[in-house]
Amino acid sequence: MQIEKNKSLKEFNTFGIDCAAKYFISISSQDELLDALRSEIHSKLFILGGGSNMLLTKDIDALVLHINLKGIEVVNETNHHVFLKVNAGENWHEFVQYCINNDFGGIENLSLIPGNVGTAPIQNIGAYGVELKDVFESCSALHLETLKNKEFSNSDCKFGYRNSIFKNEVKGKYIITDVTFKLTKNEHAKRISYGAIKNELAAHNIEDPNISDISKAVIAIRESKLPDPKKLGNSGSFFKNPIISLSEFNSFTEQFPEAPFYKISETSYKIPAGWLIEQSGFKGTQFGDAGVHKNQALVLVNYGNATGEEIWNLALKIQSKVKKDFNITIEPEVNVI
Ligand code: EPU
Repeated sequence: MQIEKNKSLKEFNTFGIDCAAKYFISISSQDELLDALRSEIHSKLFILGGGSNMLLTKDIDALVLHINLKGIEVVNETNHHVFLKVNAGENWHEFVQYCINNDFGGIENLSLIPGNVGTAPIQNIGAYGVELKDVFESCSALHLETLKNKEFSNSDCKFGYRNSIFKNEVKGKYIITDVTFKLTKNEHAKRISYGAIKNELAAHNIEDPNISDISKAVIAIRESKLPDPKKLGNSGSFFKNPIISLSEFNSFTEQFPEAPFYKISETSYKIPAGWLIEQSGFKGTQFGDAGVHKNQALVLVNYGNATGEEIWNLALKIQSKVKKDFNITIEPEVNVI
């Protein structure tokens, strides 16, 4: 177990923010994890996965555990399904590609989402009509104080839109060490009703796509709109799409009849935050090295040396202008540290 001091986290967060960890350990086995948790290097712990859903605004005065547990294992099979247990430190997109190569269906729509497998359940990652919860069987997690393992089933996780028990009741109490997925081996349920996917497949004259075609379509759509964190620091959607009540929705659409929306239930509607931010005039704007992406207003970017504080100040500025213009509060999707 190697302990590093005052370690820069620039390479460990997709925003590319240069904050430091007081102590840092890269964890590549369960034993190392237990050793690190039993050590008394620092009274505070900070668990770091792929660093794709956080904005660092200050140095971390804690022991940072970088979860680097690797490995994919088939744990069960039926005629129709395969159950894969995947360790938390596997890169999400590489895992998606592994599934496509083995013709395991279910997560092709989630291609190219940054981050690691172990952090995917925390915010129930989702894109193009699919959410992690649709393929999630269970996960194992280690309790930070008792050091006991607990198995969380799909219903235990209380998944919601970019939400789960790990952001609420048990926030900060567990480290997810592996996730088991239930995927299809044949007769894949292909989800291609999302407009952008349909258009992308049609543009290539693909009428009956296989999961690889769907993955390629999703990759093409994402690459056209979303910046590659390796080239331009970002954390995907910075804000969640706000959900408003029917009465709020009625007065909103009366004023802005052209606004896009998704009906969630008889009494709630989701409004694309990207549209609100674009209408508020922020799309493509830049303040120092902090900016709003030119192709997708929901994505804040670091043009090089922005500090987390600069990006956070921009986020606050956007939040208050959107509130003023539309009387709707947009909340960050990323964890602001
Ligand atoms: N829009 C604009 N201007 C913009 C961006 C979007 O007007 O700059 C409007 C458009 O009308 C568009 C609508 O917003 O039709 C929706 O945009 P899009 O389909 O790109 O999806 P989104 O709501 O912006 C969500 C997720 C993405 C996910 C896509 C596709 C959230 C917060 N974001 O974005 O997730 O990839 O749907 O399913 O729910 C992420 O979480 O990091 C992420 C990228």
